[in-house]
Amino acid sequence: MGLLTENTLTPLAVAVAIFLLLVDLMHRRQHWAARYPPGPIPLPGVGNLLHVDFQNLPYCFSQLRRRFGDVFSLQLGWTPVVVFNGLAAVREALVTRAEDTADRMPVPIFEHVGYGPRSQGIFMARYGPAWREQRRFSVSTLRNFGLGKRSLEQWVTEEASCLCAAFADHDGRPFTPNALLDRALSNVIACLTYGRRFEYDDPLLLRILDLMEATMKEESSVLLTVLNAFPVLLRIPGLANKATRMRRNFLAQLDELVTEHRMTRDPVLPPQDLTDAFLDEMEKAKGNPESSFNAENMRLVVSDLFVAGMVTTSITLSWALLLMILHPDVQRRVQQEIDEVIGQVRRPEMADQARMPFTTAVIHEVQRFGDVIPLSLPHMTTHDTEVQGFLIPKGTMLFTNLSSVLKDEAIWEKPFRFHPEHFLDAHGRFLKQEAFMPFSAGRRACLGEPLARMELFLFFTCLLQRFSFSVPAGQPRPSDHGVYHFMVTPSPYQLCAVPR
Ligand code: HEM
Repeated sequence: MGLLTENTLTPLAVAVAIFLLLVDLMHRRQHWAARYPPGPIPLPGVGNLLHVDFQNLPYCFSQLRRRFGDVFSLQLGWTPVVVFNGLAAVREALVTRAEDTADRMPVPIFEHVGYGPRSQGIFMARYGPAWREQRRFSVSTLRNFGLGKRSLEQWVTEEASCLCAAFADHDGRPFTPNALLDRALSNVIACLTYGRRFEYDDPLLLRILDLMEATMKEESSVLLTVLNAFPVLLRIPGLANKATRMRRNFLAQLDELVTEHRMTRDPVLPPQDLTDAFLDEMEKAKGNPESSFNAENMRLVVSDLFVAGMVTTSITLSWALLLMILHPDVQRRVQQEIDEVIGQVRRPEMADQARMPFTTAVIHEVQRFGDVIPLSLPHMTTHDTEVQGFLIPKGTMLFTNLSSVLKDEAIWEKPFRFHPEHFLDAHGRFLKQEAFMPFSAGRRACLGEPLARMELFLFFTCLLQRFSFSVPAGQPRPSDHGVYHFMVTPSPYQLCAVPR
C-alpha cells in the first residue's frame, strides 16, 4: 500500500481515465462513420442515457424525430441504437431490408432460465435455425388446430359466451373488465397449447396469471436491466437466480401442466393441441442434437405464446370497451350492424365479418388508436445495411416506432382522435390502410395476427350483441390517455354492462 503515494496515484488515475475514454471512443466510433444517422451527441461512458426518458419512450422518440428526422441514432451506454419513424422508413427497415434486420439482441440473463443455442423460444430467439424451426412449427400448428377452420373459432365463440356470463354476473353494477378479459384470453391460449380451459375462479389459472404478471414486472426491473448491461455481474453467486425467480416459477408451473398433459394423453389419437404436436416432434427428433424440439424449448415456446398472445389481445379489448363507453354513438352503430347482420339470437361467426364494414373499421381504429405496442420489440442488424440512405452497421439495436406510423400526421386525417372513418371509404365500405401496422411487418411480424384478429372480432361482437356499455352513473368520464410501460394500457376505468 505504501507504494500508492500521491506521486504514483495521479499518473495511474490519468492512465485509467485515458484508457476508459479510448474504450468508450471505440464503442462510439460508428458515430463518425459516413452516413450514420444523426442523433444527440453521446456523453463519455453513458452515451445518451441521460437524453432518453425511459418512462415515456414513445413521446421522447417523437421529440427526437422532430430534431433529427425519420431515422436517428442513440448510444445507450455502449449499445448503438437506431430508431426508424414514419411509414417509409419503418417499411424499408422491416420489409425491404428484412434479411438484414430480423435479429434480436442477445439477453445474457436468459441463459439462466434455460436459453441455449437450441432452446430460445420464439419471441427473443436470435435469427437462425432454432427460431426458424419454431416459428414455422407455431404457424403451422395454429393453422392445423383451427385457424381458418371451424374448431378454434368454436373455442373462441364459446369462451366469449363464458365471458358474457361473467359480465352478466355483475348485474349492471360498475366493474373493471380487465381481470375477466385476461382470464378469457388465457383460456384461448390454454386451449391451443393444452386443449383445455379453466373456470375463471380456478386457482391454477389465477396462479398462472399472477406469475405471468410478476414475470413481466421482473423483466423490466432495475436488477435485470443492470445484469443484462453488465453480464460479468452474473458471475456473482445467487444473483441470476434472484433476478429470474418469477420467470423460473412461471416455467415450473407450465412444466406441471405438461406433465399432467402427458399422463392424460391418449396415444392412439392424433395430436389434439400444440403440446401434443411438440411432443411428437420431440420423439421424431430424438438423437438429433441440431433440433430445437426439446423439453427445455417446449416450455419457452409455450410461455412465449401465453405472454405474447394473452396480454396484447386482452389490452386491445380493454381499449375497445373503454372507447365504446366514451363514444356511445359509435357503440350504437356497431350494435345496429350486429342486429342487421347477425340478429340477437345467433352467435357471431367469422363469416359475418365481410358483411360488417363498420364493426371491422371500429376494431381497426381501436388498434390504431390504442397503439398497444408502440415501439414493437427491438430488432438487431445481422449485416451492415442501408435504410433511407443511412448506413447502419451490423450489431446495431433497432427500434421500429410503430406508433409513429399508426399516428402519422401525414397519413391519418385525425391521428390523435378515435375516428373509425379512417377505415371507411365514401360509400361506407371497409378501407385497408397500408399504415395500419400494429402487428409490425417483415420476418419477425406477429405470428399470432390471424388468431388475434379472430379473437378481437368474435369477443367484441359477442359482447356488444349482449350488452350496452356505459360510464357508471356519477363517475367522471374516464381518460382515453394510455399508460406506457412497454405496452400501452388504458388508464384504469370501470364500466356498466347492461343486458340489451
Ligand atoms: C392484438 C393482439 C396482438 C398484437 C397487437 C401483437 C403485436 C405484436 C408485435 C408488434 C410483435 C413484434 C414484431 C416485431 O418484432 O417486429 C409481435 C410478435 C409476436 N407475437 Fe404478437 N401481437 C398480438 C397477438 C398475438 C397472439 C394472439 C399471439 C399468439 C398466439 C402472438 C404471438 C407473437 C409471437 C410469438 C411473436 C414473436 C414473433 C417472432 O419474433 O418471430 N401475438 N406481436
